[in-house]
Amino acid sequence: MSRDRSLVSRSPDETRRLGALLGELLEGGDVVSVSGELGAGKTCLVQGIARGLGVDPSVPITSPTFTLVGEYPGRLALRHADFYRVESYARLDDAGFQDLFDESGVLVVEWPELFPEALPQERFAIAIELVSECERRVRFGGVGRRAAQIERRILERWR
Ligand SMILES: Nc1ncnc2c1ncn2[C@@H]1O[C@H](COP(=O)(O)OP(=O)(O)O)[C@@H](O)[C@H]1O
Ligand SMILES: [Mg+2]
Repeated sequence: MSRDRSLVSRSPDETRRLGALLGELLEGGDVVSVSGELGAGKTCLVQGIARGLGVDPSVPITSPTFTLVGEYPGRLALRHADFYRVESYARLDDAGFQDLFDESGVLVVEWPELFPEALPQERFAIAIELVSECERRVRFGGVGRRAAQIERRILERWR
């Protein structure tokens, strides 16, 4: 990550609120990667992103298991992938993963480090670290003008 700014979340609700703030800022074609060990709160953050994108709050957001990508309509479509259960790059190709980068939606990917070549360099990168049972450090980074812009806007609006 070229820049490194971070903030602390002290509860799942706070992480969802951060996600919602991000979801409000996203534009068509944006790609967001979310790293962190199991239980870090990646899916929790994506639930907030869905809220911020105007996805129907009654629709549960869980990591896709049988399908590669979960797609949810909203102000922009939320496309949510989790590379944890993906076996190979070939599997991503077969599923048409490269067709998901278009302006009608945003793509959010958990476990990006498992298949880094499948993602564009220019993306907003989030890394969540477990600090204690309910505390998480959320780091921002990424490459490109959009990543810098999103990071600045989040840090301006947080709290
Ligand atoms: N500050 C926090 N932010 C996010 N999740 C938290 C936080 N504190 C505790 N948790 C708990 O950690 C777990 C995160 O689960 P999940 O979002 O599925 O993680 P991941 O997708 O990274 O494996 C949930 O059980 C959630 O309640
Ligand atoms: Mg998850």
